[in-house]
Amino acid sequence: SLTRLAVPVAAATLLLAGCASTGDDDASPAAGDGEVTLLTEGKLTVCTNPPYEPFEYEEDGQVVGLDMDIVGAVAEDLGAELEIKITPFEGIQSGADLDSGNCDIVASGITITEEREAKMDFSDPYFDADQGLLVPAGSGIASVEELDGLTVGVQTATTGATFAADNALNVVEFEDLGLQIEALRNGTIDAVINDIAVLGPFASDDFEVGTTFPTGEQYGLGIKTGNTALLDAVNATLERIASDGTYEEIYTKYIGTAPSAG
Ligand code: ARG
Repeated sequence: SLTRLAVPVAAATLLLAGCASTGDDDASPAAGDGEVTLLTEGKLTVCTNPPYEPFEYEEDGQVVGLDMDIVGAVAEDLGAELEIKITPFEGIQSGADLDSGNCDIVASGITITEEREAKMDFSDPYFDADQGLLVPAGSGIASVEELDGLTVGVQTATTGATFAADNALNVVEFEDLGLQIEALRNGTIDAVINDIAVLGPFASDDFEVGTTFPTGEQYGLGIKTGNTALLDAVNATLERIASDGTYEEIYTKYIGTAPSAG
C-alpha cells in the first residue's frame, strides 16, 4: 500500500521486499486468515537468547532490546501481555521451540535462511545484518586468511558458525555471546565471529573489530509453520510500526542512528 512510502527508506525497502517475496495481496493482513490463537490466552509467549545486546539483553531483571520492543508492539496490537522465555539459540533457530509449543514467536536476531524457512515461517525482514570479527585490541587480525592456525569462537547453530565452517576455520563453539566474549577476554580463543551489530559495541581498550564480512543477512521473527493468522498479524504490526514512526524510534534507541542513515 502507498502509506509505506512515507516511512524511512531502510524500513520501507525491507517491508516492501518482504511483501514482494511472499506475494501477499491482503490489504488488511490482521483480518486475513482468521483469528489469532495464542498458546496461552491473552499472552504472547516469545523465545529469545540473550545476552545479545542491543537486540535482547537483561537489564534490571528484565529482558529488553530492539527485538523485545518489536514483539512488544505485536503483543500490543494483539491486546496480549508479552511473556519472554530465555532458551538456547539452537532450539530457537531449528523450529523446535515453536513445534513443541514452547513459544508463539521466536525473536532472537534470527537470520532468515533457506534452511530455516523449511522449519518455520518468517515475518517480513526487519533488520539488515552482516558477520563481524572481534579480536584483541592491537592484534591486527583483519581477514579470514589471518585466522589460519588460530582458534575462533562461534555461537552454536548461528550463521556465524556456518560462515566459519564454510571458511574451514578452526572453531570452538559457545552456547551464547557472553561465553564467546569471556573466552576472548581469557585468551582461550583468538577471535570471535558473530553478527557485527552485536560485536561493534565491544570495541574498547581490550577489543577491536577486525573486519566485517558482508554476508547480507536479514532478521525475521519466526512463527510456527502454517500459523498464517499469527504470521499475518506480525506482518501487520511490522507495517504499522514502519509507517507510524515506531520502528524508527526503536531502531534509533538501540542502534544509535536513524535507519535511513544506514
Ligand atoms: N543472526 C545470527 C543467526 O541467525 C545470530 C543470531 C544469534 N542470536 C542470539 N540472540 N543469540 O544465526
